[in-house]
This record gives sequence, structure tokens and C-alpha cells, in this order.
Amino acid sequence: MPSACSCFGFGTRRKSDSVGVAAAPKPASNQTAPANPSTSAADARIPLNERQKFLLVANWKGISRKASETGATMFVQLLRSNEQFYEVFNFGHVRSSTKEEQLQDERITKHAETVMKMLDVVISNVKDADYMFQLLQKSGAEHAYRPRFQPEMFWKIEEPFLFAVKEILQDRYTENMDQIYRVIIKIILSSLEEACREESVRKAIKNGTKNS
Ligand code: HEM
Repeated sequence: MPSACSCFGFGTRRKSDSVGVAAAPKPASNQTAPANPSTSAADARIPLNERQKFLLVANWKGISRKASETGATMFVQLLRSNEQFYEVFNFGHVRSSTKEEQLQDERITKHAETVMKMLDVVISNVKDADYMFQLLQKSGAEHAYRPRFQPEMFWKIEEPFLFAVKEILQDRYTENMDQIYRVIIKIILSSLEEACREESVRKAIKNGTKNS
């Protein structure tokens, strides 16, 4: 079983700290968009070129500043189109609340903030693929221990994520950014799903060994 506090590892420490992980992107004050749009040969796992990665990190700052609001919008959207998740998340207390009440609910906003904090670290580190996938691997594996959770459920958050980002960014959510966000969320969800699936298999083998 992973560590009891699942948010461990997504705290405020920077990546350079060997114990923890980054919560904030590297300083961007004197950065400029790379002119060369070719896909980085450095890592084929992320099919975005250097300029697209630069734009993503810069654009994401608008979300990062409104993480709580974006996260709550995303979760309320998820819950409203997937009734069964009220139980998965233990959010049964807001099942019959209005959308506005759900957006203000403390349990939802707190959970949304934790998830957004993790997405913040992941997206801010899009240029460091190894590190990014390491974070996703850890979180995906942890979900294997959530009661009633199935690996394919990750995909249910794809559209709510895009909806929330668009809602918060308004006219900064251009056609170009839409394409970039669609690519990155697919990568994130595939990695989470794969890690969760692998951990579920390990868990089943471990339990089988224990019970035999
Ligand atoms: C972008 C996708 C997702 C990311 C990055 C993510 C990340 C996280 C993180 C960081 C936590 C720990 C929160 C905490 O301990 O308070 C968490 C908990 C959890 N996640 Fe996810 N998650 C994602 C999608 C989903 C989806 C789609 C579902 C279910 C449909 C789900 C189900 C859960 C559950 C049930 C918990 C435990 C909540 C609790 O203990 O109260 N996650 N997730």
C-alpha cells in the first residue's frame, strides 16, 4: 500500500530538492518562445514541440493562479455527468445541491486543490519528461488503492478538464491552446491509467499470494 497521505510528494518543495518535488515552474522572467517549432528529439513520449511546451507552461500560469476555481469547476462538471462518482469520492452530501453550492463546497474545493496542485507540478515540468512521468506513475499507482476506482475512470475527467480550463482562460484559450491541452491531458491520463492498471495487477498478485 502506498503512503497514507496520497498528497505526499506533491508539496511545495522544488525539484532541485532531492527529497521532495517541485510545486512551481522554474522562473520565466527572461524566457522567450523558441523560434524553432520542430518536435524535440529529446523525448518522443510528449508529441509537442519546444514552442508548444513553452506556450503551455506560460498559458498554464493563468490556471495555476486560479487553481481552486478551475479544480472545483472540473470536479463539479465530472460529478454532474457521472452520478456514480458521488460515491467514489465520498461527495454524497452534495448530490442534490445546486451547481453553485457544489462549487463552494469545502470538501470538493479542498480535493480539487490537491488534484490541481499535482497537475500544476506535472504541466510545469513538461520539459522534463522523466520527472513528469515519474509523478504520474506514482499518482496512478496510488489510485489502485482507492475503493471503487477503476483505471479507465481516469478518462472521465478529460472533457471536464478541458471545459474548466476553457472556462477560466476565456479568450486566452485559443484554437492553438486547445490542441496543446488536448495532447497533454491525453498523455497525463494514459500514464495514470497505465500505472494504475499495473499496480492493480501487482496488488492482485500480492493478495493472491497472501490468501493462498
Ligand atoms: C487528471 C486526473 C487526476 C489526477 C491528477 C488525480 C490526482 C489525485 C490526487 C493527487 C489525489 C489525492 C488527493 C487527496 O489525498 O486529497 C487523488 C485522490 C483521489 N482520486 Fe484522483 N486524480 C485524477 C482523476 C481522478 C478520477 C477521474 C477519479 C474518479 C473518477 C479519481 C478518483 C480519486 C479518488 C476516489 C481519490 C481519493 C479521494 C479521497 O481520499 O477523498 N481521480 N487523485
